[in-house]
Amino acid sequence: MKLSGKVALVTGSSQGIGQAIAIRLAEEGADIVVNYHSHPEEADAVKARIESLGRRSVAIGADLGSVADINKLIHDAVAGLGQIDILVNNAGVEKNAPFWEVTEADYDFVLNTNLKGPFFVTQAFVKHLQSRKAPGKIINISSVHEDLPFPHFTAYCASKGGLKMMTRNLSIELAPLGITINNIAPGAIETPINTSLLHDPAKLNALLQNIPLNRLGQPKDVSSAVAFLASSDADYITGTTLVIDGGLTWNYSEQ
Ligand code: BGC
Repeated sequence: MKLSGKVALVTGSSQGIGQAIAIRLAEEGADIVVNYHSHPEEADAVKARIESLGRRSVAIGADLGSVADINKLIHDAVAGLGQIDILVNNAGVEKNAPFWEVTEADYDFVLNTNLKGPFFVTQAFVKHLQSRKAPGKIINISSVHEDLPFPHFTAYCASKGGLKMMTRNLSIELAPLGITINNIAPGAIETPINTSLLHDPAKLNALLQNIPLNRLGQPKDVSSAVAFLASSDADYITGTTLVIDGGLTWNYSEQ
């Protein structure tokens, strides 16, 4: 097991990719802080699953758009499991709307969850590591849309582009502290975030035609990469993005 003795905080881990990451890191030996916003029962089920693997876990609710909530999350996580060594900024949301119809509320919801949240969770985590003089690993779950345009999702793309730049910047600033930070950029993964797409056969088929590996990704396609980036096998990797998209991003052909 690669992560014995480590504690990982995975934001947004009651469902989807975050849930798979929480369980995978527990399988690698880490104790897990499960974080949720609106699904406490699912978070409790993930916690129970982690405990059934012989690991410790706490489930803590927080609104990641609130710095007060974030500071309480880190405080309660450390109170519950003693320390945090690995942070996975996974929580993310999206809203589908033409640019000219995006409301202030929807913009704030997306940017608060996808960019302000990771910014201040990371800040609180770094302060925690500084207080222990400990090294650490940060993995951000970004998207292929940190680079790739996605019409009708401009706030989402702006948040993911911002996350990419945050990662690059912090890789330099945090390196002297022994902290690495990397992004993972999933493509189309089968999770609750794209439920409506999954139930629209025409849209789903069009999407599959854009994916050279000809299938949607599964949460475990992402969680296995997180387990690697969180481990000492990845000690020399920082400031980069690992794309996990079945070939989607660079798909171009005239055949
Ligand atoms: C989005 C999905 C989208 C996928 C591929 C993800 O970041 O959350 O809605 O299907 O990118 O475009």
